Amino acid sequence: MGTDKDSRSNVFTNNDNRSQHVIRRCTIEDLEGVIDVNERELPEDYPYFFYKSILDNFPESFLVATNSHGRIVGYVMWRVERIPAKDSLRLLSKGHLVSIAVSTASRRKGIASDLLAHSMPAIEKSNITEYVLEVRVSNYGAIDLYKTFGFEIESIKKKYYRDGENAYFMVKKVEGLE
Ligand code: ACO
Ligand code: ZN
Repeated sequence: MGTDKDSRSNVFTNNDNRSQHVIRRCTIEDLEGVIDVNERELPEDYPYFFYKSILDNFPESFLVATNSHGRIVGYVMWRVERIPAKDSLRLLSKGHLVSIAVSTASRRKGIASDLLAHSMPAIEKSNITEYVLEVRVSNYGAIDLYKTFGFEIESIKKKYYRDGENAYFMVKKVEGLE
């Protein structure tokens, strides 16, 4: 995605001329801005302590995108889940995409792609075997985005959302395993 990592400050500078955003690690001071974007862009809202616990436990893959005024216009957060393997009692770790959103005015500029491109290697460091997520079956834009990143629909979770909508459960295996 045309970025260079500045390892001292965890800032990714963006050289894509569609957008002048910066991708960087979320801080505690950013949570208000993250919650703002979430409440505007997604019907699934979480309490403050939920964001805080994701930030405390999985800070490397909790990223924000800021615009040229330094305002938060997007975020991505992941968590690691330990789940029994289908064929044994072994526990496998999966990277679960908890939430991603970009402000309406900043969409289709590659910001969500950039958030994914920088957060997936970070969550992969927790020795996950696959990345997983749920998405509304009507959310064509997000489904397209995930397919671009190699996710495939594995199953449907009936009435996953509070309003009764079904979710696709999408999975991407971590490369180089098996
Ligand atoms: N329609 C069709 N394809 C789309 C759309 C869309 N609305 N949005 C993204 N894509 C696909 C396209 O292939 C796009 O490439 P292109 O622009 O070159 O055609 C590619 O994804 C990359 O798009 P980005 O610009 O990186 O995505 P954007 O920054 O616009 O953010 C997002 C996409 C996060 C889905 C945004 O529309 C959004 O915030 N929506 C509301 C919140 C939401 O639905 N989040 C996902 C919920 S599921 C979950 O969090 C696990
Ligand atoms: Zn990038």
